[in-house]
Amino acid sequence: MQLEPRQRLIVALDVPSVEAARAMVARLGDAVEFYKIGYQLAFAGGLAYAPVLVDAGKRVFLDLKLHDIGNTVAEGVRSIARLGASFLTVHAYPQTMHAAVAAREGNLRILAVTVLTSYDDADLAAAGYDFTVPELVGERAAQARDIGVDGLVCSAAEAANVRPIVGPGLALVTPGIRPAGTAAGDQKRIATPSLAIAAGVDYLVVGRPIIAAADPKAAAEAIVEEISQARN
Ligand code: C5P
Repeated sequence: MQLEPRQRLIVALDVPSVEAARAMVARLGDAVEFYKIGYQLAFAGGLAYAPVLVDAGKRVFLDLKLHDIGNTVAEGVRSIARLGASFLTVHAYPQTMHAAVAAREGNLRILAVTVLTSYDDADLAAAGYDFTVPELVGERAAQARDIGVDGLVCSAAEAANVRPIVGPGLALVTPGIRPAGTAAGDQKRIATPSLAIAAGVDYLVVGRPIIAAADPKAAAEAIVEEISQARN
């Protein structure tokens, strides 16, 4: 996937209000072109803020992890497409992925979440699955590819395993990015920007290392610089 280094950085706007989001976007200025809105901001007025960002020339990733009966997913995807977002997440269940792919319009691309990274094998067993995490990630990645999903959310470690399954056409989008020397926080499977690019990741989702930095714009610029130096 041919992308400029700056186009590969997605900043997670994990802030409690649209006011806080506006302030962060103003501080980041031209350093950041792509923003992720997740549950916290989406359910605090952030859905209405998405078209404002799009009108300002930014791209928007709505991390809403949809999963419902097919008709409900399809109608939800149509409404979301009208907000002008570029990426939307759904859980990687075949019915859900089929419905989302069939209903996407305009610029909207569908990303599937294979297995939440907070799940281990015991969590899967407790949820009734007879698969290990790598087995289920591989199975769902293959299903996503066959259904025509546009990309997957995965850790940098999974990216190297998933890429041969999905081929070059699907976007791999990876959270848990930590520049060397920054705090891991609650993230377990972390990678530096360089390692993520080397693993075949297309887009890097970064939250706290930028939005909680003393100088968020400098932190974003440093990550873009590291991406531009990295090799894949
Ligand atoms: O602050 P941090 O860089 O850890 O933020 C990562 C972002 O990516 C958060 O918005 C988080 O919800 C999201 N995410 C994640 N791990 C996943 C999927 C999404 O950290 N497996």
